[in-house]
Amino acid sequence: MSKPHSATVAARAGIAQDSAYGAVTPPLYLTSTYELKAFKQPGKYDYSRSNNPTRDLLGDALAELEGGAKGLITGTGMSACLLALQLIGPEDTLVIPHDCYGGSYRLFLNLANRKKAFKLVVVNFQQTDWADQVKAAQPKMIWVETPSNPLLQITDIKATAELAKTLNAILVVDNTFLSPALQNPIALGADIVVHSTTKFINGHSDIVGGALIAKDAAVGDELKWWANCLGVTGGAFDAYQTLRGLRTLLPRIKHHQHNAELVVDFLQKQPLVGRVYYPGLKDHPGHAIAKAQQHGFGSMLSFDLAADEAYLAVFFEALQCFTLAQSLGGIESLICHPGSMTHASLDAATQKAAGIGPTLIRLSVGIEDAQDLIADLAQAFAAVEAAVQQKAKTPSVRSGSATAAEKSAQQQFRLNPALSVLW
Ligand SMILES: Cc1ncc(COP(=O)(O)O)c(C=O)c1O
Repeated sequence: MSKPHSATVAARAGIAQDSAYGAVTPPLYLTSTYELKAFKQPGKYDYSRSNNPTRDLLGDALAELEGGAKGLITGTGMSACLLALQLIGPEDTLVIPHDCYGGSYRLFLNLANRKKAFKLVVVNFQQTDWADQVKAAQPKMIWVETPSNPLLQITDIKATAELAKTLNAILVVDNTFLSPALQNPIALGADIVVHSTTKFINGHSDIVGGALIAKDAAVGDELKWWANCLGVTGGAFDAYQTLRGLRTLLPRIKHHQHNAELVVDFLQKQPLVGRVYYPGLKDHPGHAIAKAQQHGFGSMLSFDLAADEAYLAVFFEALQCFTLAQSLGGIESLICHPGSMTHASLDAATQKAAGIGPTLIRLSVGIEDAQDLIADLAQAFAAVEAAVQQKAKTPSVRSGSATAAEKSAQQQFRLNPALSVLW
C-alpha cells in the first residue's frame, strides 16, 4: 500500500495491533511497572514513567501525522514546551513571538529572568523587519506559534525555517491551533513541533495533555531521555483517551471548519460586529501565507463587538449554544473574552499593544449544527440591540454613569484576580 493519508493514519491509530488476544481496539496498560523476563533480562518495558505501550501508540501516531522521527507524549501542553527548552542552555538565546500563548510567555519569561536558563528576545513577527530582528539576536532556538491567539496572526514557517538554517538555530512550532490535520510544520522546515493535545487532538475537552514531535531521531532520543529525567511523560489513561479522540481528528476538523466558515459569513453581515479576525478572509493580512502553508483555515476566530463593553454581559448571558469558557478545540462551541480570561494577566497597556481591545471576543467553533450556532449568535446580538434601545429610551437614568447592573457586568469582565491565571 502507498503511504496512507492522514485520515487513515489517525483513524487506524493503534488499531489491530494487540499481540495477546487480537483486540481490534488496543488495550489500556495502566501498569506502573513490568516483570523482567528473568534475572538481568528486562523486557521492552520496565517502568511507565520511561515507557508505556499505550503512550507509545499515541506518540507513534502523532509522529507519523506530523512527519517526524519521534513523538513524545507529555502530561500537559506546557510540559511539551518545557521539554523542547531542554535543548538550550544559559549561553543560548531563545527568540519568541510577542503574541505567543500567555502560559508559554510566562514560562519563557520566568525561566529566562528568574532561573537564567537562557537569554530571551521577543520579536514581533508581523513587522516587516522581523528577519533582521531575529538575525540580530543570533538565537539558538526560534519559537513560532501560528496562527496566534487571539488575533489569528500568521507567521511564515518556511521563511522562518530558512532563516533558522542560516543561523544554525532550532525551529520549534507550536501547532496547537491547527493540529496535524491542517498544518505540518516539519514539512515546511521546522525541527520540532509541540502541541497541547488538550485541544483539537483529543477534541473532547476531557483530557489535559501535550506532545512533542522531533524531525530527527537523535533529537527525539535526547528529548525522550529528558522527558524521563524530568518526569513530564503523560499518563496511560490520558493517552488512551487521546488516541480515541485522535481517530476522529480529520472528520471533526472538516466539520469544525465548515461551521466556522458559515459563522464568519454570518458575523460579517452583523451591524453589531466590528472587525472579524479569521485567516480565511481575503483581507486578513496573513491570508496568502495561511493559504500556502495550511491545509485549511481552521475553526478559531475572533471579532470585536461593536457596542460598549458594558453589553458584553448581555451578549454572553443570552447565548445557549456557545459556552463561556477557557480552552478551545473541543467538539462543543466555546466563547471567550480574551481581555478578562485568556489574557487577563496582561495589563491594559500590554493588551492594547497586542491589539486586544476591550470588546474582543474569541470563538472556538464546534461541530453542532451550524444553523443552531448562527441562530444562537443572532438572538444574542438581538438581546444586545434591545438593551441598547432600552438605554436610548431612558436618557435620564443613563446620563453619564453606568447603572448598578452595568457596573456589575463591567466588573465581571475586567481584570479579575481570581481569573488572572493564564490558560
Ligand atoms: C497554543 C498553546 N500552546 C500551549 C498551551 C498549553 O497547553 P496545556 O494547557 O495543555 O498545558 C496552550 C493552552 O491553551 C495553547 O493554547
